[in-house]
Amino acid sequence: MIVFATSDKGGTGRSVTSCNLAYRLAMRGLNTAYVDYDFGSPTAGAVFEISAVERGARAGQGVHSYLKGNIPDISRVDVRAATDRDKLRSQRSRGGKLFLYPGEEGGGEAMAGDDQSVVQRCVDLLLDLDNKFKVVIVDLSSGRSVAMRVALEATAPRVMPGRQVHWLVFHRWTRQHIMAANSLVHGFRGLIEQGIEGKQPLYTQAELLSRLRYVRTAVPVPGDSSKTGDGRQAAWLIEQNDMLRSLAATNKLGDDMVLGSTPVEPVLQWREQIILDSDVNAGFANQATADAFTDLAKKLVDEETWVPVGHRRTSDAEGV
Ligand SMILES: Nc1ncnc2c1ncn2[C@@H]1O[C@H](COP(=O)(O)OP(=O)(O)O)[C@@H](O)[C@H]1O
Ligand SMILES: [Mg+2]
Repeated sequence: MIVFATSDKGGTGRSVTSCNLAYRLAMRGLNTAYVDYDFGSPTAGAVFEISAVERGARAGQGVHSYLKGNIPDISRVDVRAATDRDKLRSQRSRGGKLFLYPGEEGGGEAMAGDDQSVVQRCVDLLLDLDNKFKVVIVDLSSGRSVAMRVALEATAPRVMPGRQVHWLVFHRWTRQHIMAANSLVHGFRGLIEQGIEGKQPLYTQAELLSRLRYVRTAVPVPGDSSKTGDGRQAAWLIEQNDMLRSLAATNKLGDDMVLGSTPVEPVLQWREQIILDSDVNAGFANQATADAFTDLAKKLVDEETWVPVGHRRTSDAEGV
């Protein structure tokens, strides 16, 4: 399964959530690859706390050099062998594999989206990884990037028949982020427009939408603030939450299109990292956050998730 992680804006929590998702997939025993395809800021090395690739691979050794045809292979990193974080390293022998294919800072500058040799190398890389790993997560740059265009072209059904390819669109739980996520998918030069344009469209709209789900990140829990104050703030937050839910629904990001959501996590507000169960046990991180990442991992590989809306046995989309 190939999964593109994208978002309209930066700072949505796309990379941190995707790294945690990858970690939870591996802990469920699934061999997982994480490809850092973010041109602007490859951050996965920092989230996994691997100092050698903290700002991406050294120039000429990462995903971008491979795609440009400068190197035949990317030097991949075994996350739990290479991490500086003791508690993550000690889990080395548990679960499935977890490999990082690091990106390069500024790697996108020389890359053009209509360069067919880049698309072909992307096809080669993804097919190879899809054969080796159960899940391949590709962290794309935010917005309507060259990376998004290359990804759309490389994984269209006629280019990659019979492969499971999915798109996750990450957004924060605010009005602007909801509208931005809608626009990335449905707006001008958005995923759908780029996917269905031309004489020989890459996809039909239905094909693309059935492969796509949203992830709501850092969602505040309205009830939390009722512990303090006289309840007026809690009432206001509940009202706003309802308003956001209906805004999401009218923007085609309703519950039936949501893979899952993550709660606001104090640890992640201060530090981009993997939330380990030991962080929860030590009382630093919230159980609900670890559960949210586990839930995302479970739903991502659940076939029922990808049954088009209206054909599902049960509605497994949960609200916030
Ligand atoms: N559930 C969460 N609660 C609080 N902060 C979060 C949460 N998820 C991510 N963050 C934080 O949000 C910031 C942006 O996340 P990042 O993954 O770098 O975004 P993007 O890849 O979309 O640019 C980071 O500081 C990250 O730790
Ligand atoms: Mg990022």
